[in-house]
Amino acid sequence: MVDVISAQSGAPVIGRLVVVGLGLIGGSFAKGLKESGLCREVVGVDLDPQSRRMAVELGVVDRCEDSLAAACVGADVIQLAVPILAMEKLLRVLATLELGDAVLTDVGSAKGNVVRAAREAFGAMPARFVPGHPIAGSEQSGVEASNAQLFRRHKVILTPLPETDQAALALVDCMWSALGADVEHMQVERHDEVLAATSHLPHLLAFGLVDSLAKRNENLDIFRYAAGGFRDFTRIAGSDPVMWHDIFLANREAVLRTLDTFRSDLDALRDAVDAGDGHQLLGVFTRARVAREHFGKILARRAYVEKAAADDMTFVAQPGGSVNGQIRVPGDKSISHRSIMLGSLAQGVTEVEGFLEGEDALATLQAFRDMGVVIEGPHHGRLTIHGVGLNGLKPAPGPIYLGNSGTSMRLLSGLLAAQPFDSVLTGDASLSRRPMGRVAEPLRQMGAVIETAADGHPPLTIRGGKALNGIAYDMPMASAQVKSCLLLAGLYAQGDTTVTEPAPTRDHTERMLRGFGYPVTVNEAAVSVQAGGTLQATRIEVPADISSAAFFLVAASIAPGSDLLLEHVGINPTRTGVIDILRLMGADIRLQNVREVGGEPVADLRVRSATLSGIEIPEALVPLAIDEFPVLFVAAACAQGRTVLRGAQELRVKESDRIQVMADGLTTLGIKVEPTADGLIIEGGIIGGGEVNGHGDHRIAMAFSIASLCATDPIRIRDCANVATSFPNFLALCAQVGIRVAQEGQS
Ligand code: S3P
Repeated sequence: MVDVISAQSGAPVIGRLVVVGLGLIGGSFAKGLKESGLCREVVGVDLDPQSRRMAVELGVVDRCEDSLAAACVGADVIQLAVPILAMEKLLRVLATLELGDAVLTDVGSAKGNVVRAAREAFGAMPARFVPGHPIAGSEQSGVEASNAQLFRRHKVILTPLPETDQAALALVDCMWSALGADVEHMQVERHDEVLAATSHLPHLLAFGLVDSLAKRNENLDIFRYAAGGFRDFTRIAGSDPVMWHDIFLANREAVLRTLDTFRSDLDALRDAVDAGDGHQLLGVFTRARVAREHFGKILARRAYVEKAAADDMTFVAQPGGSVNGQIRVPGDKSISHRSIMLGSLAQGVTEVEGFLEGEDALATLQAFRDMGVVIEGPHHGRLTIHGVGLNGLKPAPGPIYLGNSGTSMRLLSGLLAAQPFDSVLTGDASLSRRPMGRVAEPLRQMGAVIETAADGHPPLTIRGGKALNGIAYDMPMASAQVKSCLLLAGLYAQGDTTVTEPAPTRDHTERMLRGFGYPVTVNEAAVSVQAGGTLQATRIEVPADISSAAFFLVAASIAPGSDLLLEHVGINPTRTGVIDILRLMGADIRLQNVREVGGEPVADLRVRSATLSGIEIPEALVPLAIDEFPVLFVAAACAQGRTVLRGAQELRVKESDRIQVMADGLTTLGIKVEPTADGLIIEGGIIGGGEVNGHGDHRIAMAFSIASLCATDPIRIRDCANVATSFPNFLALCAQVGIRVAQEGQS
């Protein structure tokens, strides 16, 4: 029996490997394994004498046999790399041989037919047969094209069956891994469905289109005018016709299913063209473009190597510097989310400017596209939303993935609870740990049916078709997300929906509803809506996000010699706690050119360095600065004396536990802190250098970047990729004003 574990030692773990079929794939497999040292001997078998001779000459195999029976004597592994339609015959011959304990595997592009053929030949699927499929190839063919690197960073799909021997599976896994491949396991049927859709259908279309056009134009004259699009789309029509003929016959059922689905989608497109239905066309094209960008990223990554690198994005911030200049930070995240939501539910076309092209707001945008809303853009912060009305959303084709965005999930849950269709909302690892009971509970009181995972965590399954009743809800926590969720559900509920908040929270939903012409009643701490109104499309100008500006307010305050102007910042009074707290600490922040834009107050903020002092942060300001505490803690660390925060337990359930994570990081940097259940006590002091962890929380990563201005040594911040959720150009703006923070490994 072959010992897979000893593969790590570098000594051969396979005695004899036999590769049947010395084409590009078989030859590359043989050559790669021969070079890996994993096999004592690699033996080739091929019907073609010239291929056998070349395989030995080119060092693809150690030797060749012309008889399959002779080659298989004493074989440990037999790799079947013959054309897929030759597999049946080969398996019938193998079934007559004495194979001992040999592991069988193959490289066929379809798996159902191979498994069927093996069952027929052997009477049952041999336990030591591991079906496989490397997703790799090249326009070259034949043993002379053998390339030991062909599978490096390519996917190889193994399709083990319940009866498959685990040791045999581990061995085949180990061989492909030795070739640098990224091995995955899948069910046979799933493999054939996936490949039919992603590989076989596109080849059929490419072959079909070229033939169809060529047939119609005998002298092929039109091809002289073919542009790049034609060349790109039809590149794969240059593939080996015989091989593809085999694949379509081998994977007939799965290809037919995917082809039929595509045919009806194509008919719908045809009807749209016929009817002059530009809206339908724009919907398909905008959705496809986004999907293509998404696939493009996945394809560009190719394998987990780069993904791991992206997950592990590290910032390095150099100590010192001052902050000067004039910048505009990106659009407000909260308002950007709401512009998509209300624009989609409105009647008519809503134009948005200043939209935040960060991943969180883009998750909301994608969710609405998935629900059938046509949205053009974003292009330089501009969006055109073709509203579908309050009752025009369609079910998304699958679970709606909301990434890191708690706002998307909480607000959408209210809206979706009132729709006639079911929805499933999912998110990334951080979002999957965040509490959703706070929205699910009151929505259930309204009559919604929502299932959560254990402890009220995502995913959320929301059952549609439930009649909602308005409720009067006293929010147990000051949360604009909960309030907004219930107000959105209230647009569809019978009677009044009233939410009373224990302390003021951001009121962008209320303001924007009114901006769309929807009546909202505010009575001190209580906000009410009723169903029955409509939203009328409007123009929205999203101001710069004060939560993003906050990093620079602190930066310019703590760095000596700073003078910075932040343009067009939203100063909605429910958001300006950061300015109030910094001023209480002694910051020099002035509001200039105060004006109102689209229902939201806006100003340019001028901030100059100042000596900060520790304070007891008034609890009333906590909800008004809820997202700014990571960077306010940095201000406190640079201040003279002690800063005390209380009443901020909500910080423990943000994208990370912001109390603990900031306490840990500041401690690493030499600051004395004491975390409490609902806040943090910070003794101002000298910030040193060191390595801290951003925990995938955008605001933690940015806060520690700012801390470098007062640090004695560089600060390395791990796990920073999520800065893109709210502030995609953070590093560029830092560089522009003099904050020396960059992604590790990049200038
Ligand atoms: C937000 C509300 C706040 C805030 C979040 C955005 C919103 O959350 O932290 O970043 O857009 O409504 P809570 O409502 O949970 O406090």
